[in-house]
Amino acid sequence: DMHLHFREGSMLELVAPLSAAHFAGGVIMPNLVPPVDNINRLNVYRSAVIDACRDHTFTPYMTIFFRDYNESELSTFQDQIIGVKLYPAGATTHSEGGVRSIKEVESTIKIMEEMGIPLLVHGENTDGYVMDREGLFLPTYAVLAERFPKLKIVMEHITTREAITLLDRFENLFATVTLQHLIITLDDVIGGLLNPHLFCKPIAKRPEDRDALLSAALSAHPKLMFGSDSAPHPVNDKECCGCAAGVFTAPIALPMLAELFAQNNAIDRLQTFVSDTARAVYDIAPRTKKIVLRNEAQLI
Ligand code: NCD
Ligand code: ZN
Repeated sequence: DMHLHFREGSMLELVAPLSAAHFAGGVIMPNLVPPVDNINRLNVYRSAVIDACRDHTFTPYMTIFFRDYNESELSTFQDQIIGVKLYPAGATTHSEGGVRSIKEVESTIKIMEEMGIPLLVHGENTDGYVMDREGLFLPTYAVLAERFPKLKIVMEHITTREAITLLDRFENLFATVTLQHLIITLDDVIGGLLNPHLFCKPIAKRPEDRDALLSAALSAHPKLMFGSDSAPHPVNDKECCGCAAGVFTAPIALPMLAELFAQNNAIDRLQTFVSDTARAVYDIAPRTKKIVLRNEAQLI
């Protein structure tokens, strides 16, 4: 699962085993309070994650929160992380300390390119209309891909047809997509009665976007990885005025993906979408985990 929020404390204890029961590994996001942006915090957090997974086979691939890092800092991180996660300031949950101008942080990005550290990006322009925020950010991806041709750039949780098109334009662009964005549209969030549990950033988009994402996933697009973006919040923070952004899918992500692929006669591509592509893109080899799919009802 190439995009996961595990949180800390009792929430971590609760949710980590639910992912670790189904997935052999996951990319653990650093948007904690305070963010994971130094080697101490990273090591403590990794240990907490490993403890929380108990006896499940699960490899946490850690990330650090993007800020201006110098070469010596990045070299202490290099072997400990799978990438650095860049959030535009204020784009989503706990991203206040994010980046205000990408131009101003290019020196850090340059060092990452030279060291071969992937850049993972929450790609939304925070000043745009909510449905357009990802689209408005796409030119920034293009600029980054061109200026840093050796940098692996992962467009996290893409939600639009245009993002899929962009993937095919640049060799060094990759992407993750969530379960919810393969299934729902904005209609499911606000079209009927408001459903706070389907509210996340980026917000679910139009049917044609969902269809483009789904067909890319079902065809096992070689640069599109599964990243659930499972993002748990306490129920009081979801069912309230000022609902926190994040959809919690950890316990149902793999079963629902299997159902989705089966319904679309693509079950033979599930393994590639959910595992092989990530292994190839990131050149990782977590301990193998065997999953048995059973066609039976599950009450959620
Ligand atoms: C995520 C969270 O809650 O940490 N929320 C979300 O809506 N996806 C952060 C993120 O990935 O944007
Ligand atoms: Zn996320």
